[in-house]
Amino acid sequence: MKPLKPDSQNKIILPAEFLQRRHLDPQTDFWLNEREGDLILHPRLPDVHKLYIEATTSCNLSCQTCIRHSWTDPNAHMDNKTFQSILNSLDDLPLLDRVVFTSFGEPLVHAGLLDMIAGIRARGLGVTLGSNGLLLNEKNIRELVRLGVDNIIVSIDGGKPETYEGVRGTQLSRVLENIRLMNRIKQELGVVYPVLGIEFVAMRSNQDELQDLIQLASQLNAARLVVSHVLPYSREMEEEKLYGYGLREGFKTGSWPVHSDAWMRWGVIELPRMHWGAERRCRFVQDRSIVVGWDGGISPCYALSHSYQYFAIDGIAKQVERYVLGNVRETPLAEIWMSEEYTRFRSDVRVFHFPSCPDCDLRETCDLRASNQGCWGLNPSCADCLWAQDIVRCP
Ligand SMILES: C[S@@+](CC[C@H](N)C(=O)[O-])C[C@H]1O[C@@H](n2cnc3c(N)ncnc32)[C@H](O)[C@@H]1O
Ligand code: SF4
Ligand code: SF4
Ligand code: SF4
Repeated sequence: MKPLKPDSQNKIILPAEFLQRRHLDPQTDFWLNEREGDLILHPRLPDVHKLYIEATTSCNLSCQTCIRHSWTDPNAHMDNKTFQSILNSLDDLPLLDRVVFTSFGEPLVHAGLLDMIAGIRARGLGVTLGSNGLLLNEKNIRELVRLGVDNIIVSIDGGKPETYEGVRGTQLSRVLENIRLMNRIKQELGVVYPVLGIEFVAMRSNQDELQDLIQLASQLNAARLVVSHVLPYSREMEEEKLYGYGLREGFKTGSWPVHSDAWMRWGVIELPRMHWGAERRCRFVQDRSIVVGWDGGISPCYALSHSYQYFAIDGIAKQVERYVLGNVRETPLAEIWMSEEYTRFRSDVRVFHFPSCPDCDLRETCDLRASNQGCWGLNPSCADCLWAQDIVRCP
């Protein structure tokens, strides 16, 4: 630490060597903040790395697990004007390198999705598509390849046809056929992209099939198998959860060879944490991500991008209200990102300046907690967040 002294005009000058080390332009603006007696300077930088775009909240399925059952939000598509506002905002985000098209809805239901992807790819940004895979067909697969979409994550919540059908209400063979078609087209065109990932929501009723999923990932040449626990939005779903307060045995892991051009690499399985722990880390904030909702509303993460009910780790029902920090139709993304409220929120999340409700004696009766607020006055509260515990995961 270096001592800083005000000069004769009571100004504090940040040393050039400090600015250089932090790669900060001497003209950088800051927000001045205080926390627990400390003064904090937050540089106002448009340093967003990742953008999640919710092309639609509509879906061609009605999965048993999906929080769309617990919300009252409309089924709606992002309109062209909103998407153009996003595109117009991108020049002011020099560190942005990836756009992820997914959210609570099925992106391929949006008739304009490929045009949106084309608009993003024209800016040279990487694109990940998260999909249930059922609407993939020869035409859109060829287009995804042509546009250079480099990652596709397909949800498969069961290794056995009856389990998958129980969760997703449709046949496993349909999604497998589509993935195999994609693999054939990639082979025919001599490309390795989009690299396939599989997402599996692990529950009591399908946990025994994780090994089948590993085999499936190997057969389908998937590079990643992302395993998440379920975010329970109903008492029925709560019965399905495999995580809890105390230590639990983890899932068995595995790996498999993946063909990648002239190379072989190993497929990886990304496993969630099994129990509540002291370490709390938000991947959305750490990865400098923004979520843009279907109507242009900006939220910091999936967890706060809709209004819905869920059950916290100890079974308390919580009502989450959508947290919107601005709308891209009215304000450029960089301005929203650098706003006072959003900057302060990210700072509180980075140091996780929230109480630990699941450890509090008042947890069962606290009204604040039930409405996703916290007694430290920092709202919305991330105290119960299962994403910050790495129990619920996203690609
Ligand atoms: C909401 S979906 C949206 C993308 C697409 N419709 C799909 O199903 O892949 C994104 C991911 O969330 C998972 N998911 C759905 N309900 C969930 C829940 N209650 N808890 C955790 N993950 C869930 C899905 O399985 C999927 O992998
Ligand atoms: S396909 Fe995805 S968005 Fe649609 S209901 Fe299932 S989990 Fe939800
Ligand atoms: S908000 Fe405060 S009082 Fe309420 S449960 Fe959480 S820690 Fe306890
Ligand atoms: S900790 Fe959870 S609720 Fe808070 S910003 Fe991160 S994902 Fe959202």
